[in-house]
Amino acid sequence: MSPFQLTRTLAADAAGADLRADVLHGLTRSPKELPPKWFYDARGSELFEEITRLPEYYPTRAEREILVTRAPEIAAATGARTLVELGSGSSEKTRFLIDALLPGLDAYVPVDVSESALVGAAESLLADRPELHVHALVADFTRGLALPGTPGPRLVAFLGGTIGNLLPAERRTFLRSVRAMLAPGDALLLGTDLVKDEATLVAAYDDAAGVTAAFNKNVLSVIDRELGADADPAAFDHVAVWDAEREWIEMRLRARRALTVKIPELDLVVPFAAGEEMRTEVSAKFRQAGVRKELAAADLELSRWWTDGEGRFALSLATV
Ligand code: AVJ
Repeated sequence: MSPFQLTRTLAADAAGADLRADVLHGLTRSPKELPPKWFYDARGSELFEEITRLPEYYPTRAEREILVTRAPEIAAATGARTLVELGSGSSEKTRFLIDALLPGLDAYVPVDVSESALVGAAESLLADRPELHVHALVADFTRGLALPGTPGPRLVAFLGGTIGNLLPAERRTFLRSVRAMLAPGDALLLGTDLVKDEATLVAAYDDAAGVTAAFNKNVLSVIDRELGADADPAAFDHVAVWDAEREWIEMRLRARRALTVKIPELDLVVPFAAGEEMRTEVSAKFRQAGVRKELAAADLELSRWWTDGEGRFALSLATV
């Protein structure tokens, strides 16, 4: 088997149709909202990589600390011969896990909507690990997934805290779809950011350098470019608030003045009142009891819980 295979299950024009549907639905409802998936064009992905290096944005460093210190325990606990990573991106932090799972690891199956990210990650992984077999999937894992037939046991990793982008009902559906991928002996490794003081949380999503503000506003540039819209990022303010009741950070874009956004591709003119806010992302924060409960609702058992030294972020191992 060649060391690198790539399967596309995402129709080439999927992004176009999905973006149009999301913008039509999100900008004609009240309150307005957009799904965070549209942040990640080339510029948005670059800005996110920059965010992970910001002093205020602790989740990436915290998760990497857990992976570096606990990868041997995770490998011993699962004995996985296939590692599937959902939303793999650069796979940068996954190498600690891969190295702990090798030489028993037969296949690494990174799943991402970005083909360029998958190819780049595979190239750098295979450069140092020629014995690794990478079977990349260009797919949107929230739309169901057909995994390649690789040897079990399987470990499905969903890292970074990205599960926090899903609303509770969406998480239920997602965790059930992950459960459907698993057989006895398989496991899920789930990264979750944890509830903490509001000041730390808000700073992580509203950094002093304004990188997160640029990341948030970039979604307007995506709509302008892809749908020929005339949204002016300078006419909006970045907002990051902690919703203490729902225990999630909300990012929004607030119109500085009454304005309209014309979207010719959708034959739409969208009015914004002065001060009107459009939600662009939720980032839910978790407690161990809540994670245990949500996993159990998907017929998954929380069997191991690891946090970084400061207790900011957690990795959960869930078994069937
Ligand atoms: C990549 C979704 C985990 O929610 O913390 C970073 C994205 N948004 N800064 C997060 C994000 C604003 C990040 N996830």
